[in-house]
Amino acid sequence: MNIGIDAIAFTTSRYLMPLEELARRRQVDYQKYCIGLGQTEMAVFPPNEDIVTLGIAAAKRAIQFVSDKDSIDLVIFATESSFDVSKSAGIYVHHFLDLSSSCRVFDIKQACYSLTAALQMAKNHVQLYPKARALVIGSDIVHYELDSAAEPTQGGGAVAIVVSANPRIMRIEPFSGLYTTDVMDFWRPVKKDEALVDGKLSTYTYMKSLEICYEQYKQLSGLDSEDLSRVCFHTPFTKMARKANNLFFSEKNIDASLLYNTIIGNSCSASLYIALISLLDNTEEDLSEKRIGLFSYGSGSMAEFFSGTIVAGYRDMLTSDDNKKMLASREHVTWQQYRDFRANKQPVPADDFYTSGDIRLEQIEEDKRIYSIRS
Ligand code: HMG
Repeated sequence: MNIGIDAIAFTTSRYLMPLEELARRRQVDYQKYCIGLGQTEMAVFPPNEDIVTLGIAAAKRAIQFVSDKDSIDLVIFATESSFDVSKSAGIYVHHFLDLSSSCRVFDIKQACYSLTAALQMAKNHVQLYPKARALVIGSDIVHYELDSAAEPTQGGGAVAIVVSANPRIMRIEPFSGLYTTDVMDFWRPVKKDEALVDGKLSTYTYMKSLEICYEQYKQLSGLDSEDLSRVCFHTPFTKMARKANNLFFSEKNIDASLLYNTIIGNSCSASLYIALISLLDNTEEDLSEKRIGLFSYGSGSMAEFFSGTIVAGYRDMLTSDDNKKMLASREHVTWQQYRDFRANKQPVPADDFYTSGDIRLEQIEEDKRIYSIRS
């Protein structure tokens, strides 16, 4: 049975900080950001946007392609930016999407790897229950310490994927190269809003993980680089993905998959799948029946190399024009707004700032988060 991605959609903030401005303020040569890291803009988030509002916005866009919402009996919300260590962010999504109450809903985490874990679990679920559909969401907002080397690699966004039998976008193949190792390259203790990172160790572990996973993938599948049309990577910053591509796939053009990440920044769990959407949206060549390699990396660390083939007719399932319009219509924030967004933990009154979709965080009362639909 073919199982895989039946629908996929993403969203990000309506606001951005140009890295040229960040470089000027931090007295860093802008070339370091745009050439050295391969980033030109980063998504920044107003206080009324969080992983839930982003997740709902992405999920609403993905489930427009599902004729029978009641067939969704599994929702997995993948995030490392959780504000609650007990209640699942997925419950809010389930509520605002008005999904069937006969549904299994939970959150998972393993840094940026978590959406891949969710995707593979969803695939196994559909294998057992072929009529079922699963909705998996990766939603993250990435904050590092201000004025640190990692600051220009901040960003965020959400991807929602509908997983089903006879998928209309990508069939996921059964071979996975996996690698887990205990390493302190990036972590966020519960008491902190900002991630801590050992940057050099993280880039080293990312590359080492790719080597091990890809070797295992080749052994399990009997496939090699020439069997892959393109490869998409977890993209903490686009230079990282280019270095990874150069390791084994230097003959493959990676540009189309990096267009969105260059102007969004690191969206952690969503990042690999934003790269996939960017590839599908921006590749003129028909990718039908082409095999795409996917490398997922989550610090700490867990990594996976796997692949999928693109289904003929996939273009009918894309929202490419909307994606490009959404990105082009984002507003630049001022330096003061950027700093205020970070300092302000409470939602702002009224519609001072728009969220990515029609849901906004209204208020936090007695530590309860209250969301409302924008009228
Ligand atoms: P840094 O101190 O800015 O590093 O930190 P650098 O001084 O080595 O400079 C970066 C690059 O800019 C270098 O290029 C320089 O040569 C170049 P490279 O040698 O690597 O090719 N450069 C210039 N280029 C042009 N003009 C100039 C110039 N100056 C320098 N004037 C670092 C960079 C990535 C370490 C930092 O930003 C960081 O810590 N970022 C966060 C960690 C990260 O993104 N790690 C990636 C792998 S781990 C991962 O992907 C997981 C993650 O997503 C988390 C999760 O799983 O949840 C992060």
